[in-house]
Amino acid sequence: MNQTETHKVNDNSQELTRTEFWNALNQNSKIKPDIFDCQFTKSYLAAPENYEAIKKSVFEIILGSLPKSEIHSVKTPNDYERIIEQINGTKSLAIKKNWDLFVKLEKSVIDELDRLGLTSLIKGIEFPINVRVAHGRAPEEYKETDYATDHLHSDLWAGEPDDIINCLMYIDGDLKSTYMELYNPLESKVAAIASFNGPYRAFDAKMEGIEKVNYVAQEGQFILFDGVCPHQTIRKGGGARISIDFRIRRVDPYKNTEDKPYRSGMWGKYWYLDSKSETFQQRCENELIKLHESRLEVIPKRTAWITKMNNLSKATAP
Ligand SMILES: [Fe+2]
Repeated sequence: MNQTETHKVNDNSQELTRTEFWNALNQNSKIKPDIFDCQFTKSYLAAPENYEAIKKSVFEIILGSLPKSEIHSVKTPNDYERIIEQINGTKSLAIKKNWDLFVKLEKSVIDELDRLGLTSLIKGIEFPINVRVAHGRAPEEYKETDYATDHLHSDLWAGEPDDIINCLMYIDGDLKSTYMELYNPLESKVAAIASFNGPYRAFDAKMEGIEKVNYVAQEGQFILFDGVCPHQTIRKGGGARISIDFRIRRVDPYKNTEDKPYRSGMWGKYWYLDSKSETFQQRCENELIKLHESRLEVIPKRTAWITKMNNLSKATAP
């Protein structure tokens, strides 16, 4: 398969700075943000067909992750209500690493990114996308840690690359009780946020010039927010919330492949965009084809990463 066939992305487009990205999104996209529109964060209601396809994939992944004893009453992956009931009967849920299902999910997500005019503005995407089942209460020991997402934070403080844009889509569950609180900074605050070194709790006193975004979470809501937007998980003790989240990159994800010990992973979780692959094996092959064309030096590292992912998948297979 040659590169022009593999994805919809304009590979010749320049890498954009933070400000250029958000301005370009305003100018290029025919779709206007219909939920909120701030300088460094925008929110859209996903196209119904994309939301349905994403939801279907997410529930397929969750159903495969529920303990066998919990799923006897669930007839099909589309039995969403019953699956949520089963989730609420658990304290936490470890998502199984069936990468083929994550490739399917990613394909539907890229359809939505494409609709919003994003695929021509970005260079990379986090793979796998995180399927998040946030229970109504955080485990006590988790809340005590310095980097728990229940504290206000920017992902840059956890060592994520400076060029990330966070993406979150609410899928289902109790969105009234468990949701993300989000803040949009003034341009003049961006440098201070980007250079802050944590821990999360220490930033609370510096919130002047950082405005809370008012919104009510809804199913199918897609939120894009720059790495400099502080955010936190709010849990009011209700039912579980189901959402997906992932990061996209303004710069080539292979530009810097130092083994910086990111708290939530390493460089290898960022891949080129790919909207054509149907399986994880194809996803890997297409990535290596692109690297053969432009970045031969990172092929051994990517190959080792793929081996690690395959081993993880085998370890959690039923
Ligand atoms: Fe975060």
